[in-house]
Amino acid sequence: MEELTIALTKGRLADKTMELFTKAGFSCEEMKEDTRRLIFHNKEQNLNFFLSKGPDVPTYVERGAADIGVVGSDIILEEKRRAYEVLDLGFGRCRMCVAGPESARERLQHHEMIRVASKYPNIARDYFYHEKHQTVDIIKLNGSVELGPVVGLSDVIVDIVETGSTLRANGLDVLETVCDISARMIVNQVSMQMKQERIRELILAVRKALES
Ligand code: PRP
Repeated sequence: MEELTIALTKGRLADKTMELFTKAGFSCEEMKEDTRRLIFHNKEQNLNFFLSKGPDVPTYVERGAADIGVVGSDIILEEKRRAYEVLDLGFGRCRMCVAGPESARERLQHHEMIRVASKYPNIARDYFYHEKHQTVDIIKLNGSVELGPVVGLSDVIVDIVETGSTLRANGLDVLETVCDISARMIVNQVSMQMKQERIRELILAVRKALES
């Protein structure tokens, strides 16, 4: 059996992914132990699983350090790495939104020059420049983006909204929806050719597990 290496997004997404993979017949006992280890093996099925930060998953997959990756579509859109996107896994659902104080709504509609804070500068640029044809000032942040409008760094933010509680707690509202987000399976382009049979089998099994 050919070896397969799978990059998972550390945290809740990895837990959900392993739940699904187990249902599909690809489990990993080693991962159930409470450990700081980052890589785990299933010797019988010749599978390796490793845990990485979301934004790094497409990098591992593009460069072939992982054959397969599971990551949010927000990261795929932001990182723009070469890989085949093969499955929507349906979990990790949220929305990419433009959010801000109600007072920013009108400025958005009138295509004024606004300041946009985001962990996702590429998504923000694609949305404002290419979809809305609006020139904006994009400010890259690394987290707690909701602070932007609150402390006067930016007029709005582009960020993911799941329950909306972070926005509400900081007096902000969703002003526009950019796109829906969910977890996706991606595959290295060379692996897809070289390990075609094994990868196809895995995709099929995961798809069946999703449908059942
Ligand atoms: C994400 C996102 C929002 C929040 C949305 O942040 O950037 O801040 O979750 O979730 P909600 O709609 O359910 O409140 P994360 O927790 O990843 O932290 P970060 O801002 O430090 O990246």
